[in-house]
Amino acid sequence: MAQTARALDVRTEFAADVFAGLSKSGQKELPSKYLYDDIGSALFEVITLLPEYGLCRAEERLFERHATELVARLPGAVVVAELGSGTGKKTRRVLEALGRRQTTSYYPIDVSPAALLRCEREFSGLPSVKLAGLVSPYLDGLREVARRRPAGAPLLVLFMGSTIGNLERPVMEDFLRDVREQLAPGDGFLLSADLEKPVSQLLAAYDDSIGVTAAFNLNLLERINRELGGSFDVSRFRHEARWNDRERRIEMHLSSTCEQNVHIRRAGISAEFRTGETIWTECSHRFNCAEVVRLGQRSGFRCDTQWVDSEWPFAQSLLIAN
Ligand code: SAH
Ligand code: AVI
Repeated sequence: MAQTARALDVRTEFAADVFAGLSKSGQKELPSKYLYDDIGSALFEVITLLPEYGLCRAEERLFERHATELVARLPGAVVVAELGSGTGKKTRRVLEALGRRQTTSYYPIDVSPAALLRCEREFSGLPSVKLAGLVSPYLDGLREVARRRPAGAPLLVLFMGSTIGNLERPVMEDFLRDVREQLAPGDGFLLSADLEKPVSQLLAAYDDSIGVTAAFNLNLLERINRELGGSFDVSRFRHEARWNDRERRIEMHLSSTCEQNVHIRRAGISAEFRTGETIWTECSHRFNCAEVVRLGQRSGFRCDTQWVDSEWPFAQSLLIAN
């Protein structure tokens, strides 16, 4: 019953966000969190395997080298929460390292029920992990973890995969402050960020040769058709990855290949598209190491350690709440 009510809430919010995003007079847009329905989450998993998309392998290499050191830097009996966990594949290394000294309560937080289901399976054979998944937006989930944590137990929050880069720059600092508000002094926050690299390499990572990222992006229109009674003809839209030099980010767009009108019954909207007009669906920012440290400092953290992969420049920063 509660699950059904929640599914209805999510659908109502989806309809409202689609209405707001497609009725904009300038750039039409859709929030990137809606990319992750069951199909989108499965496609993202494939993206992490693509030769062009080096982020995930970079983070795996960092954990291979440093998971033991990371764990040694944490206080005992730490509770772990993960924002946007996905399937938790990479997190396994950290929890295995923690498992050598303690049983760990692990709270993966994700808007995708399909991703969380796979995450539960990933850890079902690991007796040192007590998992409680939360189908929830990041901060609501973290508030729930803060309520549930035993008094005095230290917390480690993971925000991996450079998912911070999917927020707009002005929002990042507010977001980190909101995270900090749920923590106690001394709690840890492992923040991953993909670093600047040649634009050609980034464009290939977001427009791969076999079209998986294109399918990931276009699936958002099919999701609107499936869940909100939309009339998108997906063959009339094209995936586009752009580099925005001023903001230092990749943007994903869906570009209309003709003049057309799309009706979305449950969002109560008819949207008109000119040829070449786009819907902006995601931003993915790039960083340098110093700005991640500054971002943490401005939000109530100090940077304890930064680990950097040099093969695919990527940084993990262990921030400690002041
Ligand atoms: N952390 C994993 C997965 C990254 S994909 C990794 O590093 O590989 C981003 C994940 O965040 C997806 O599983 C998606 O469903 C989830 N997500 C996106 N927006 C979210 C939001 N606002 N609140 C909670 N989860 C979100
Ligand atoms: C989850 N996030 C960090 C991914 C990214 O690289 O921005 C999502 C993604 N979009 C396209 N490919 C992967």
